[in-house]
Amino acid sequence: MVFTPVLSAHWDDTDSFTLDGYVRHGGYTALPKALAMDPDAVIALVKDSGLRGRGGAGFPTGMKWGFIPQGNEGQGAKPHYLVVNADESEPGTCKDTPFLMANPHALIEGVAIASYAIRSSFAVIYVRGEIVHVIRRLQQAVLDAYAAGHLGKDIGGSGFDLDVIVHAGSGAYICGEETALLDSLEGYRGQPRLRPPFPATHGLYASPTVVNNVESIASVPSIVLGGAQWFSSMGTEKSKGYTLYSLSGHVKTPGQYEAPLGITLRQLLDLSGGMREGHELKFWTPGGSSTPLLTAEHLDVPLDYEGVAAAGSMLGTKALQCFDETTCAVRAILRWTEFYAHESCGKCTPCREGTFWMVQILQRLEAGTGTEEDIVTLLDTCDNIFGRAFCALADGATSPIVSGVQYFRDEFVAHITNRGCPFDPVASTVFSGALA
Ligand SMILES: Cc1cc2nc3c(=O)[nH]c(=O)nc-3n(C[C@H](O)[C@H](O)[C@H](O)COP(=O)(O)O)c2cc1C
Ligand code: SF4
Repeated sequence: MVFTPVLSAHWDDTDSFTLDGYVRHGGYTALPKALAMDPDAVIALVKDSGLRGRGGAGFPTGMKWGFIPQGNEGQGAKPHYLVVNADESEPGTCKDTPFLMANPHALIEGVAIASYAIRSSFAVIYVRGEIVHVIRRLQQAVLDAYAAGHLGKDIGGSGFDLDVIVHAGSGAYICGEETALLDSLEGYRGQPRLRPPFPATHGLYASPTVVNNVESIASVPSIVLGGAQWFSSMGTEKSKGYTLYSLSGHVKTPGQYEAPLGITLRQLLDLSGGMREGHELKFWTPGGSSTPLLTAEHLDVPLDYEGVAAAGSMLGTKALQCFDETTCAVRAILRWTEFYAHESCGKCTPCREGTFWMVQILQRLEAGTGTEEDIVTLLDTCDNIFGRAFCALADGATSPIVSGVQYFRDEFVAHITNRGCPFDPVASTVFSGALA
């Protein structure tokens, strides 16, 4: 299996982010092709390609577009909206940000095609607030697209109008959850909404809305140009196409690797230079910190939705954070849990209280003042959170803990018997004894 650079094909060009750089490689030729089609035919094309949402859950993109009620465009009808989710805040997840820096016009062209397909004349790109450099680059790209006639009134003489705005959030992880994002856009505190109704019928301003990840939408121009068959010829039976895998952590060459779905971490490490010299993989996240940890025994798991699920985790955002044997699993899990406690929006009790108490317990365990009873309480707390909270943030918070105890219980126990972290250099002399 080889790399399949499509979204990342020209990132090495010094002007890849400019309009000229994009147009030089065929950019903005998919848009007139799509505008010459019937909107429903564009939806059918994306459905046939098998593209699944790249924001984490892998929901089929064409099917999502098809949920937007059609045939209600008459007087008094509600407008349709497209909202691009560029909030990317999950620990370890770092694909949309570099993508937007390198190739913002692919997203803008995708926005224009997707908006046309769902009959929307207003689209929003909601960007994580801290990444000011990306916001500026995206704003400039939108202005350039307007100036070139790819956005605005009567695009390419097709009669299709589209306005696009770039909206900067305030840097809350929960605002990546699609309904919290919509509340935030409307000016409310970003907290998830009760569903149903779903955004497809009651989204932005209670109007039919599609919310899609940056990479999902940016993949659309290449599907329009290459065709559904071309796209679905890559990947595996149920996970089609190419995607961005983000390799980070204790690896020799961190970065974005665009490959067909179904490649394995072993292949990605082989192709990219492997773990840092003299060290071995201990554990990794297949798709950000909210996906259960995997270990070196899972190196050959196909990185598609089905393969990773069969291994007991989730493909998520394909953020492959790799940790070597020098990493204390308890400390890493504590750091992630602190993140979730900090980012919990506080709307529901299991998450608000549960994440707080899990941090207390993990702090005790990591400091060596915990007991074996604490491990039981920790797992029990996860059990009481999972599936009982309002949104998926809380389920995600339990993932590193449950999988961490599953694979590294001896390390949790070693902290207790050692009365401190066995990875602490001062206490390292007792490390082997504590784990024996
Ligand atoms: C806490 C939380 C944070 C999320 N953050 C993001 C994000 O930053 N970007 C994103 O695309 N999806 C994020 N999602 C998933 C979105 O709710 C939604 O499923 C996604 O934007 C749909 O796009 P897709 O179908 O193209 O994958 C998050 C979900 C949760 C529960
Ligand atoms: S699970 Fe957490 S983040 Fe989600 S609504 Fe409840 S408190 Fe908010």
